[in-house]
Amino acid sequence: MPEQQIERERWGTRLGLVLAMAGNAVGLGNFLRFPVQATQNGGGAFMIPYFCALLFLAVPLMWCEWAMGRLGGSRGHGTTPGIFAILWKHPLAKYLGVFGILFPLAVVFYYNYIESWTLAYSFFSVTGKYFGIATREGMGRFLADFQGLNSPWQVSLTAYVFFLITFAVNVWILSGGIAKGIERLANIGMPILFCLAVLLVVRVFTLGTPDPAMPERNVLNGLGFIWNPDFSQLANSKVWLAAAGQIFFTTSVGWGAIQCYASYLREKDDVVVTGLSTTMTNEFVEVILGGSIAIPIAFAFFGRDATMQIAQGGSFNLGFAAMPVVFQQLPIGKILGAMWFFLLFIAGITSSVALMQPLVAFLKDELGCAHKKAVAITAAITFIFAHVAIFGLKAGALDELDFWAGTFGVAMFALIESILFIWVFKPDNAWNEIEKGAQVKAPRIFYYVLKYITPVYLLVIFISWAFQQGPAMFFMEGVAPEHVGWRWAARLCIVGVFIFIAVLVAKSKKLKELETGAS
Ligand code: ALA
Repeated sequence: MPEQQIERERWGTRLGLVLAMAGNAVGLGNFLRFPVQATQNGGGAFMIPYFCALLFLAVPLMWCEWAMGRLGGSRGHGTTPGIFAILWKHPLAKYLGVFGILFPLAVVFYYNYIESWTLAYSFFSVTGKYFGIATREGMGRFLADFQGLNSPWQVSLTAYVFFLITFAVNVWILSGGIAKGIERLANIGMPILFCLAVLLVVRVFTLGTPDPAMPERNVLNGLGFIWNPDFSQLANSKVWLAAAGQIFFTTSVGWGAIQCYASYLREKDDVVVTGLSTTMTNEFVEVILGGSIAIPIAFAFFGRDATMQIAQGGSFNLGFAAMPVVFQQLPIGKILGAMWFFLLFIAGITSSVALMQPLVAFLKDELGCAHKKAVAITAAITFIFAHVAIFGLKAGALDELDFWAGTFGVAMFALIESILFIWVFKPDNAWNEIEKGAQVKAPRIFYYVLKYITPVYLLVIFISWAFQQGPAMFFMEGVAPEHVGWRWAARLCIVGVFIFIAVLVAKSKKLKELETGAS
């Protein structure tokens, strides 16, 4: 069938599109990962490499991904195997595109599980289950027990049930399709998320000095703690890598998920203003709202040293061990706790459906699967491999998936797509594609940024990651021998899913026609 005749789904409204794209980006990264990264990497000084990465990586790549997605979608290809084959008439192109389905999927293998903890903790807050545990150490043990880390099965029944519920909700939303599933979720979920976040920020700002005996522990000092610049960190290359990593994680560029959502645009839809506004919405939620809740509240209640320790302990420590202790000390703490965890749940689910959608779209577009069948196959794969993250949690299977897919993989994929779109497809074609239908033209300076700065920046980031962290990760330095098996299982999962998708790519007649120019 000639591709032009293929009717694809479309976003229902422009607001729905903006909210869905913002939901794709706004996730656990905004509320948990960002404040911890900022605190660990020089506070206010971290924002310099962060804004450089936003300006030179995220904004240009986001325009590229929106334009690539719209181009692919207009020809019936919503995922990167097809999109890359349009950009580069070479047999390798479609196989490079496999990464744009694989990486979001590999991240969702563990992301759904973390998302399910937020739902569980929302429930635990309302029912007061953790109330009475007054210390962070106690809450840490509560989390480990909830996860079942000390049980012979390595998972508790409660955690597993919440995972099943979360997973079922994800599949239910995906089965509704673009306009009736994902867009509807965004239309309802994103306003709730904004309201909850603003209410929590207002509550944090009105906390003042919770313990008059310790006047230095107040919210203003808490904000200063996260934002006071430590310029000595700027010379540290790790800070630049951390900033780029956070930008990739939070904006969802470099994954393949944005191209897929953009493929449901209409051919003349604007990408310059709409794309920029969703990215800026994500930044507002991250920097203004995300930076004003967890760390300042922890500082006001625990003080500087303990907050430093919490940040060093990572995002989970902050979200699941520190915050519940604070809620217990506040009036209407059960409600505030439920709000915080439900906010995380909404942020999570609007991202996780976006990470699963590329496989659904690929199966429909390239193999002609019916929607229900495509969702069922995606659900089955995600469900099976999520068990590696669940049962291998203690062994670090989650970290393994996160590094290879969510850090190293994303930088690699962003580099590949920028070379294909900018250099192989040619800079002028890429720029025209971005400007097509634009309500306001993108500043011309970005043409040069795209052409030179973004690919070089990406190359430096990718090589630095590969050399600084790659060998230690690859050789599993410091990993206990009993954990090696699970970590290998995580790697095999990634390789196995790559092979599976690559075989499907090879079988697709539609992709073959693209390559030979028959369509
Ligand atoms: N962009 C999503 C997040 O921040 C994946 O969690």
